[in-house]
Amino acid sequence: MEILAKNPEQTQKFAEKIAAQLKPGDVVALYGDLGAGKTTFVSMAAKALDFSDRVQSPTFVVSRIYSGGGSSSEIKYVHHLDLYRMQDSTDVKELGMEDYLEQPDSVTFIEWPEVAENYLPEKTIRIFFEILSKNERKIHVQNLH
Ligand SMILES: Nc1ncnc2c1ncn2[C@@H]1O[C@H](COP(=O)(O)OP(=O)(O)OP(=O)(O)O)[C@@H](O)[C@H]1O
Ligand SMILES: [Mg+2]
Repeated sequence: MEILAKNPEQTQKFAEKIAAQLKPGDVVALYGDLGAGKTTFVSMAAKALDFSDRVQSPTFVVSRIYSGGGSSSEIKYVHHLDLYRMQDSTDVKELGMEDYLEQPDSVTFIEWPEVAENYLPEKTIRIFFEILSKNERKIHVQNLH
């Protein structure tokens, strides 16, 4: 599935559509350059999933967990990882990625997932963001059930 979002509002509509299809246990890997819209997308999707905490970029802390939302679904937690600062898969191993990924009641979003490619489950949903202009993004989704 691929869309051209002409502005953040269209990205939001798309994030809502994707969020509606997410199930507990899902892993979503988000690819794209700095400023492509990965964090923005996680924030929009988490909001659509009823997690009202304000999603921030976890760049400086590697991971955040949002809880207390999802009252209307089986998704009890949203994990948000940003692996930008991870040098290699040894760092990823130390982070204990498995603990995040093996949670049947959580959805896990991963920014800069390239370094963790070997740890991602086969069912991982992949979303690619491409900057076309200041406000336009091409968004391509792979492997959504
Ligand atoms: N159509 C659009 N969809 C999403 N974001 C957009 C769009 N147009 C402009 N933007 C802007 O692009 C920026 C995306 O920043 P964001 O922090 O989400 O990027 P990121 O991919 O997480 O970057 P980083 O790799 O640094 O974490 C935001 O300021 C957002 O408002
Ligand atoms: Mg980000």
